[in-house]
Amino acid sequence: MIAEMPVPTPSVDSTPAPVASPIAPGLSIKPLRIGPLVVDPPLLQAPMAGFTNYAYRSIVREFGGTGLQATEMISAEGFVRLTGGLKSTVERLWGVKEEARPLAVQMWDNDPALLAECGKKLAFEYGVSVVDLNFGCPVRKISEKSHSGSYLLRDPQRVGAIVSRVVAACAPVPVTAKIRLGCTHDCITAKEIARVIEDSGAAALTVHGRVAADFFKGNADWDKIAELKSVLKRIPLIGNGDIDSPEKVVAAFAKYGVDGVMIARAALGKPWLFKQSAAALRGEPTVPEPTLIEQRDILLRHHQMVVKRFGEERGNVLMRRYACCYAQGRRGARDFRFAISKCDTSDHFVTIVNERFPMEHAEKVDWN
Ligand SMILES: Cc1cc2nc3c(=O)[nH]c(=O)nc-3n(C[C@H](O)[C@H](O)[C@H](O)COP(=O)(O)O)c2cc1C
Repeated sequence: MIAEMPVPTPSVDSTPAPVASPIAPGLSIKPLRIGPLVVDPPLLQAPMAGFTNYAYRSIVREFGGTGLQATEMISAEGFVRLTGGLKSTVERLWGVKEEARPLAVQMWDNDPALLAECGKKLAFEYGVSVVDLNFGCPVRKISEKSHSGSYLLRDPQRVGAIVSRVVAACAPVPVTAKIRLGCTHDCITAKEIARVIEDSGAAALTVHGRVAADFFKGNADWDKIAELKSVLKRIPLIGNGDIDSPEKVVAAFAKYGVDGVMIARAALGKPWLFKQSAAALRGEPTVPEPTLIEQRDILLRHHQMVVKRFGEERGNVLMRRYACCYAQGRRGARDFRFAISKCDTSDHFVTIVNERFPMEHAEKVDWN
């Protein structure tokens, strides 16, 4: 079950290697264009099932620094036919109608007609800014069992049929696609798939630099991401994988020539990473992290939002994994994780956070 899924941590020594700051003299970063939408700065918050719900997105939005945020992905079948996935679809669309724009919603399936119907609803009933198609999910339930997500990376023809049908249904709302490099290392299809996606009318392509079989093992291959730049003639390329610092964001633009950078895991416990990265792209001085006291308060506010929406029981279960993300990498994180993983009431959660949130280096920094 996704709720219990651990978050694989970005590998520490992953490419692109950081370059010195002020990071790339002469580097001029342009806003990214996704059809009619200007994504400025060209930093995107990735879709993450079970994590990038309205509470998380709100916190990221408050810090700023993203040009486009994304929801969790939804099942087109669950949304259109109101079948088994209904509850999770409704949950995953929490806040979408009211929330500030721009906002992308990602969907998955392998049926062009169903995806077109779902995209149309998202575009015109929900007024989303971008409809994104998932061609990268490696999770068995979606790939092997449902022949969707990354499974489709071996079927360019179907990918083309899906993209063109969804583009026609959603116009003028832009449609984008997110892929991995291929299904396995013996079957890297990203170039062919990228070409098909562009020719079928998509407005941007995001590439996670791993194959599906990797799940999160090894490092994202940014050389392979960069190779796609020459394949795409009209639409922007967004690179994704293992970016966990402003320096790596700048290096991705400077060294690999991508038009945009998408960040997923590293920003779960550091929702301020986009703000820091945007400042780095503008060549501004380093933006310090919030103090640990401020970080703890952000976590408590996050908790309040989630419990208000999902109720005591489910809200506290959901918050366990976020709490671990906030504590990650600090001394005492393991004890904190152990304590929080047993928590099932808000009182208990708040007590554990107040007593055990790793608090070294908590002196006050003038962060704003
Ligand atoms: C818990 C989790 C859930 C994810 N859910 C999605 C998803 O719904 N759709 C998607 O396209 N990618 C999903 N991803 C993949 C991320 O968007 C991203 O491609 C991947 O984590 C690599 O980026 P990173 O190194 O910055 O984390 C998920 C990743 C994680 C860890």
